[in-house]
Amino acid sequence: MKKLAHLVVLAFLPFAVGVARAQDQFVDPNTLRPSLDPNRKANGLARTPQMGWNSWNKFGCNIDEKTVRRIADTMATNGMRDVGYEYVVIDDCWHGERDAKGFITESREKFPSGMKALADYVHARGLKFGIYSDAGAKTCGGKPGSLGHEYQDALTYARWGVDYLKYDWCSTGTLNAESAYALMSDALKATGRPVLLAMCEWGNNRPWEWGNKIGNSWRTTSDIRDAWKGRDKWSIGMVDIVDANEPLYPYAGPGHWNDADMLEVGNGGMSDTEYRSHFSLWAMMTSPLIAGNDITNMSAATRDILLNKEVITVNQDPLGQQGRRIRDDGDLEVWSKPLSDGSRAVILFNRSESPAKIEVNWPEIGLTRSVRADVRDVWSHRSIGKVADRYAALVPAHGVIMVKVTP
Ligand code: GLA
Repeated sequence: MKKLAHLVVLAFLPFAVGVARAQDQFVDPNTLRPSLDPNRKANGLARTPQMGWNSWNKFGCNIDEKTVRRIADTMATNGMRDVGYEYVVIDDCWHGERDAKGFITESREKFPSGMKALADYVHARGLKFGIYSDAGAKTCGGKPGSLGHEYQDALTYARWGVDYLKYDWCSTGTLNAESAYALMSDALKATGRPVLLAMCEWGNNRPWEWGNKIGNSWRTTSDIRDAWKGRDKWSIGMVDIVDANEPLYPYAGPGHWNDADMLEVGNGGMSDTEYRSHFSLWAMMTSPLIAGNDITNMSAATRDILLNKEVITVNQDPLGQQGRRIRDDGDLEVWSKPLSDGSRAVILFNRSESPAKIEVNWPEIGLTRSVRADVRDVWSHRSIGKVADRYAALVPAHGVIMVKVTP
């Protein structure tokens, strides 16, 4: 009898193994554990900081297809695309519901032609298309997050033609940030479509220490507000972000950047002088340059800031070394950023309420005193000529003088 039982088991064993194998093939990818393999490879994107436009700072949740089309049309024709702005990114609140199978849909009220058609429209203008989601159950705007749907969502984005994902951190409870971001990174990779991953967990879990092969950038602070300084609930002023982001310079490099948040240039809360400082500092800090204003309706001053090719070139320098403060005399600062051609971008930064003279000397920026270096002002677009030893200038209140110093 016992023998017979054995035979029965043996007879059914291959079948049982077969069933297990067959089941293996149908593992729900949403339940896969993320790969924290130390040998994981970066996706190869963002060799220089990403540039583009994002809907949040200006439009918040009031974003729709018509607006995005107007933005894409403008970016392709007003010179922005030609100086490097590449990604058109829709932030929060584009979502509809999940369908019966759990796939995310777009709000057809706001996006009547659908995301695929909109991505095609953006691509047809020589631009790339970005979207937003969140690692938790809900986005910060209360829309469906990607938790438990990571592979499904990545697949949907790839089908739509998404090139960029900003991935936020609301409603994440006790989730581990590294695992959560690695999971979405793996899911994006599995689609086979190159998708830049912009991580947005506000620096809570020190993403600069683990994020460099998981994503292409990580936010380092809470949200920017369109103000020089000071906290308002969840958001902080421009110079508050600078102070938090500056010490992180060792962590940035090609493919992985400290993200000081999106630009407020042109949104009206700061003066043009302050916006010039904002743009210069973001360029020096190799932060992504993501315009956050209504680019279809810009003042000449705003346009001159966002389209300043000489400043953008500093941000996009292939060496990818984040600039830093090399002297701090209270309200008066000197910043330097080594560039790939052996020159330095230098900022004289005046945080005070009145104009002040600020000086930089060559040894401070790693040059010998006697070298006659070419100094070029990248805001006035003027060459000052060959100068030995030092350079000094009168800097407006809350302003910068930004020069390129070439030995
Ligand atoms: C968070 C992010 C912002 C923006 C909003 C959208 O606050 O940090 O950049 O994406 O969510 O709700």
